[in-house]
Amino acid sequence: MADLDDRRIVLGVTGGVAAYKAAELTRLLVKAGAAVDVVMTEAAGHFVAPTTFQALSGRPVASGLWDSGPRGMAHIDLSRGADAVLVAPATADFIAKLAHGFADDLLSTLCLARDCPLLVAPAMNRQMWENPATRRNAAQLGADGIVILGPASGEQACGEVGEGRMLEAAELCEELVAFLQPRILAGRRVLLTAGPTFEALDPVRGITNSSSGRMGFALARACREAGAVVTLVAGPVALPTPRGVVRKDVVSALDMRREVMAAVDGHDIFIGVAAVADYRPVESRPHKIKKGSGNMTLELAANPDILAEVAARPVRPFCVGFAAESQNLDEYAQGKRQAKRLPLVVGNLVQHGLGGETNQVCLYDDHGVHPVPPGDKLSVARAIVTHIAGMLS
Ligand code: CTP
Repeated sequence: MADLDDRRIVLGVTGGVAAYKAAELTRLLVKAGAAVDVVMTEAAGHFVAPTTFQALSGRPVASGLWDSGPRGMAHIDLSRGADAVLVAPATADFIAKLAHGFADDLLSTLCLARDCPLLVAPAMNRQMWENPATRRNAAQLGADGIVILGPASGEQACGEVGEGRMLEAAELCEELVAFLQPRILAGRRVLLTAGPTFEALDPVRGITNSSSGRMGFALARACREAGAVVTLVAGPVALPTPRGVVRKDVVSALDMRREVMAAVDGHDIFIGVAAVADYRPVESRPHKIKKGSGNMTLELAANPDILAEVAARPVRPFCVGFAAESQNLDEYAQGKRQAKRLPLVVGNLVQHGLGGETNQVCLYDDHGVHPVPPGDKLSVARAIVTHIAGMLS
């Protein structure tokens, strides 16, 4: 199932140069399964033609207050039954209108008449964004329960650099998907580990494993979508940080342990997803090891078990472990749960190594084994989060 299946989104486009990004946003929302009704202001039409949005959404585009709908009440008809109205880009002028409740065109009227959540993505020159009038208006939107997404900082169309750029289409799509998830971890603080660790042998070599970090990153995203404050301690991986997640990058198991122990106080949930190396070379050589004539023996020292250490603290968070096994999954997963005194272990069979796009897991708790429907890692992550939230409630 796609993230926005069975959802209807009204996408409002106002007159800023970032309107071109709204075309890509329309495509991404449709790709995610949403029915998208685009409503443009007259000024938006100076930047992108309605035909573009009509082609991308496969639905008629509305803009005039007087020319739309069988009942002539587009401002009501469009918002009823919608899951959200997202205005992207939202100009300073449109934000001012919303703050004051003006309704002099179709988009501002439907925003006023809506019975669903409203999200806005500001896009304007940095001075306009910093102007006290805009700040006042934006604060008013916040007070009115309107969600403000961004703006980002960076290079602007006018050539200046600063805060005011609209978020990228992919970021807005991710924010909207997150907004529509149930807030089942609201008020919780979650700490996770993810990825492999790298145990250096010398400046260019080391011991690691094939963990991609995707499952841990998907879980971090799912926890944040569920309303949690999330910190992610990540081993060496090439993945973008999920939006709204605080990320700390580490290399070795000892680094990971240090970061986790420094952060763990005050967290309600700890999820150890990382494939932490159980051993590290006793000695990491300062210079490249030279080839000898015969075999070579490496001496390895045991790494601390981060999850077991967190779970053994007198005041401990709700601890979740992962068990990736190549055989005897039930036995090993339950064994790890008992040995590390964990309320929950997520187990999966890895026959072809770590790091795929999809996953098939079982959840092990006091009540037994709960298989999760196989799927992409984000949907599996959401199912794990639902189970955790159920255990905590
Ligand atoms: N883990 C950890 N620190 C370690 C080793 C493991 O925090 N040094 C955590 C992992 O993040 C995972 C769980 O413990 O949540 C189980 O890890 P796994 O590598 O599957 O098992 P081990 O306990 O290391 O046992 P074995 O390697 O023998 O299967």
